[in-house]
Amino acid sequence: MAEIRDLPTHVGIIMDGNGRWAQKRGLPRKMGHRAGASAFKDIARYANKIGLKYLTAYVFSTENWKRPQDEIDSIIKLLRSYLDEMDGYSKENIRVRFIGDRTVFDEDIQAKMRKAEEKSKNATGLTLILAINYGGRAEIAHAASLLAADVKAGKVEPEKVDEALFAHYLYTDGIPDVDLLIRPSGEYRLSNFLIWQCAYAEYVFMSGVLWPDFKPETLEEALAEYQKRSRRFGGLA
Ligand code: IPE
Ligand code: IPE
Ligand code: MG
Repeated sequence: MAEIRDLPTHVGIIMDGNGRWAQKRGLPRKMGHRAGASAFKDIARYANKIGLKYLTAYVFSTENWKRPQDEIDSIIKLLRSYLDEMDGYSKENIRVRFIGDRTVFDEDIQAKMRKAEEKSKNATGLTLILAINYGGRAEIAHAASLLAADVKAGKVEPEKVDEALFAHYLYTDGIPDVDLLIRPSGEYRLSNFLIWQCAYAEYVFMSGVLWPDFKPETLEEALAEYQKRSRRFGGLA
């Protein structure tokens, strides 16, 4: 492995292309999700190994409820069994966090999420963030609602609301903005993923790869592309 310098602090990945991967093989879409889950586990471990600090993966969007019920059921089934495996992450020094509205899920799923977060909370390696029933607009509306309640309760003065204060009300409170956003599969859009946090991200769209085929080498390619970019944040280079 070549030495990786100038590693982004926070990488976001839109894990797209599972369905097409399955279709290409004449398999049901759920087999694509299964292969995608396996690719994800490898990437999470690899990210931790190379010293990445934050990795957020888009697992299920607020819009994905539009899918056929049997596909949704198969994704939730995969989620359940993956949540059980997550117990092992604390041993690997990986910290787990979930973002999105989890209240819609069965209590056992919510309990597994809490357990994974609680058990790994002191890990100091990679923070692995799973976006589940997540939507960027829903997150901002939710933040606005929490903030409005604090204003009503007299805890916050409206004049004091600025970007930094508002960001505390987002699911990603305490997590730095996204530096590098990766999307495989050939779609060139955010699909409502981390729209606040990607304001100044570098985007790497990898049209030649579907998520289940995404390998540690593919991540390396994206990191190499990131290292070529000149980030100015509105200033001068
Ligand atoms: C991403 O793969 C997984 C989820 C959205 C849950 P897709 O299922 O969107 O795969 P394509 O885009 O149909 O190939
Ligand atoms: C985004 O992919 C959501 C996830 C990868 C979880 P989609 O496949 O749902 O996005 P669109 O529909 O192509 O925008
Ligand atoms: Mg898709």
